[in-house]
Amino acid sequence: MERNEFIKSLGLGVALICTGSCLSSCGGSKSNDPSPTPGGGGGGGGGGTVGTKVNVDLNSQLTSVGSFVSTGGVLFVRLAAGNSTSSFVATQAVCPHQGGTLNWVQASNLIQCSLHSSQYSSSGAVLAQPNDGGATTALKVYATSITGTVLTATIS
Ligand code: FES
Repeated sequence: MERNEFIKSLGLGVALICTGSCLSSCGGSKSNDPSPTPGGGGGGGGGGTVGTKVNVDLNSQLTSVGSFVSTGGVLFVRLAAGNSTSSFVATQAVCPHQGGTLNWVQASNLIQCSLHSSQYSSSGAVLAQPNDGGATTALKVYATSITGTVLTATIS
């Protein structure tokens, strides 16, 4: 009898403690809620967007006309001699059709997809659609800059 009473009282006590702690924790979280920061007036001012920069070291890469390299999602191609931005083009490295790898074909002066052979000009325009009957779109072309011997493409 005494044991039963003890267990009952213990159960009641535990229940009260649990209820109390649940209520207080719920109350606590509610008391933290009233101060959500308003979702920053995101509209308006352009700017703010910092482009991702992808670099190539011209001392070791793109050393000859017609050479190309894919890195960081960018296909860099050297179109002419000299280390000025007009000597290079930087496009997306992956075909917009179905993600094939893009390569520069110096002999034809164009970019070609390794998967369905779509072709693009150095300015990204579509020259030939994929050979699977599908359709592709123009390549993204990224702004480039040169600092010393580092060629940088900015992906916006
Ligand atoms: S993935 Fe490039 S043409 Fe299909």
